[in-house]
Amino acid sequence: MSVVLIQDKEGLISEDLFEELYSRTKKALRFLKVRKKEVILVFTDDETIKDLNQKFLGRDFPTNVLSFAGEPSAGLLGEVVISVERAKEEAERYSIGFKNYLLMLVFHGILHLLGHDHEKGEWAPYLMVKNEAKLLKKFGFGKKDEIINFVKRREYMPGKLAVNVDHVATVREARKAPYPDPVHAAVLAELGGADGIVVHLRLDRRHIKERDVKIIKDIIKTKLILEMAVEEELLKFAEELKPYQVTLVPERVEEVTTEGGMELEGRVKEVKSAVKRLNSAGIKVSLFLNPDEKVLKLAKKTGAQVVELHTGIYAEAETEEERLKELERLEVAARIAKDLGFEVHAGHGLSYENIGPVAAIPEIEEFSIGHSIVSRAIFVGMKEAVREMKSLILRARGV
Ligand code: PXP
Repeated sequence: MSVVLIQDKEGLISEDLFEELYSRTKKALRFLKVRKKEVILVFTDDETIKDLNQKFLGRDFPTNVLSFAGEPSAGLLGEVVISVERAKEEAERYSIGFKNYLLMLVFHGILHLLGHDHEKGEWAPYLMVKNEAKLLKKFGFGKKDEIINFVKRREYMPGKLAVNVDHVATVREARKAPYPDPVHAAVLAELGGADGIVVHLRLDRRHIKERDVKIIKDIIKTKLILEMAVEEELLKFAEELKPYQVTLVPERVEEVTTEGGMELEGRVKEVKSAVKRLNSAGIKVSLFLNPDEKVLKLAKKTGAQVVELHTGIYAEAETEEERLKELERLEVAARIAKDLGFEVHAGHGLSYENIGPVAAIPEIEEFSIGHSIVSRAIFVGMKEAVREMKSLILRARGV
């Protein structure tokens, strides 16, 4: 077994660190029983890894690490390419020592070469995290607990897609006709790979009606997510119907669509009591919130299990600078939410054009998308429109 380290650009890492990484990787490979095979580690910058992402994976952004499987019969296990720039930035952002973070990326890449894939199958992420933690415990640089906690916390989740079929009902209501039926759309969305179906029962019933929610609940094989305002009649309806999840949203009758996350200041008691009622009926509860630390901390006091981060501002950003700023807010909020113990979802305004960078945020487990999918379905059909969105989500996660 041999390890070859290449520094693609001068001065990215020091000689000493280079040596350390070499010997620790070699020991880890021996521990993993990788014999008679070569592993090449390439340390590069953001620009190069972005080019590689573009060339080999069709992705338009830099990632921290990429693995390229080699030809085992020719004695090459593969190559792991790491962006030192990104590693530095992320280590700082996660408050983790740079050396440990870099080593974590090396181990992550090597586990990929050995066939681990955190995106494939239900148990694969746990196995990958377990192995990463084991390697860091044995071969990490000091402060091992800190990085092991970090690795465990990140748990690599496959990205799920919940499809909102409200706007199929919008077309129906434009004519007050019995078609198109959101029930049909829900079934086709599932056939296209949706992991859940979302409907928003608005106070004015402008699109989805009780009848739609009831039939969809009976007919689908995945899960029903009911969006609604905190209102007595809707709480009663949900308690009786028992959807898999209720997402509580703010609602103004005059709005065209949900305009932002819930305000929790001064409302914690009211929301907490709604969460309690829904949980008692066996329903998981999500709160639709702006990506903001203060509101997330208040949300913790309500007892909700999930938060859905509002991506509308990101989606509507008019300049690249604004978009990147909002993306950063989403990344930070996703991490805070996960640390607070929430399951993290995101949605609103997500489209085929803007989903990539948001779908690459590892803490976000599920995306709730409606308008763009229903719009595309008019031309390519519901099944295909869902299939395309799902594959963009998975691609952003490296699948
Ligand atoms: N999430 C929530 C809480 C929403 O209210 C909506 C819109 O109903 C969505 C996601 C989906 O937004 P879009 O239709 O823009 O994809």
